[in-house]
Amino acid sequence: MRKKIVAGNWKMNKNLVDTKSLLEELKSKIGDDTTAEIIVAPTFVNLSTASESLQTSKIKVAAQNMHQEDSGAYTGEISADMLKNIDVDTVILGHSERRAYFGETDELLSKKVNAALKHEMSIIFCFGEELQDRRNDNHFTVVENQLKNGLFHVDTSSWKNIVLAYEPVWAIGTGETASPEQAQEMHAFIRKTIAGAFGQDVADNVTILYGGSVKPNNAKEIFSKEDVDGGLIGGASLDSESFSAIAAAI
Ligand code: PGA
Repeated sequence: MRKKIVAGNWKMNKNLVDTKSLLEELKSKIGDDTTAEIIVAPTFVNLSTASESLQTSKIKVAAQNMHQEDSGAYTGEISADMLKNIDVDTVILGHSERRAYFGETDELLSKKVNAALKHEMSIIFCFGEELQDRRNDNHFTVVENQLKNGLFHVDTSSWKNIVLAYEPVWAIGTGETASPEQAQEMHAFIRKTIAGAFGQDVADNVTILYGGSVKPNNAKEIFSKEDVDGGLIGGASLDSESFSAIAAAI
């Protein structure tokens, strides 16, 4: 079912002490009366603490990444089973920083998608074009290919566990946002692409988030667009004041 979601990707920020205090602040500021689904994604080492701290809260916890294998000799990696074992059943896959700095390809991501689905996890699947792609008027093709190569092998029934996050790379952490019109244009294209491959019902029900410099002062306008169902927030999710303001904007 199509939902309203505001998710905070903390990236490599917040040690244990800071994680605990941010979670306490969020619990008191966001409360349980929010109609949207609120998700936070702290770093791996603090996931367990976060999932315990949020046990009785409506705020959910997600991991920022995971490995495609269940276990084995993969030094430094984390599996779906390990996440589920600490009550984390949502994972962000394909973030542009994972793609750019850690060499994650569409092919690898398709395996991670399979692993997450196999373990009945929910996925926030990220994709988006670079500045050059947009300048070359190639952004729709790039996005379509990222979706096709990373995701389109799944069964129709798997879409209930998939949330999409369109994040133009040129807008991530740069202070530059896609205009609400640019976001809407791309989100409508994404929905149409999904409809073409999986049918209108799947397309109507998939939640599509926008990410890239969403702040309290622009969230409302972006979220008001028809095909924008919420946001994936980086920088502004590290502060309880701004993240709760964005959550309220939905
Ligand atoms: P930003 O990051 O809000 O800091 O631009 C968004 C993201 O990386 O998901």
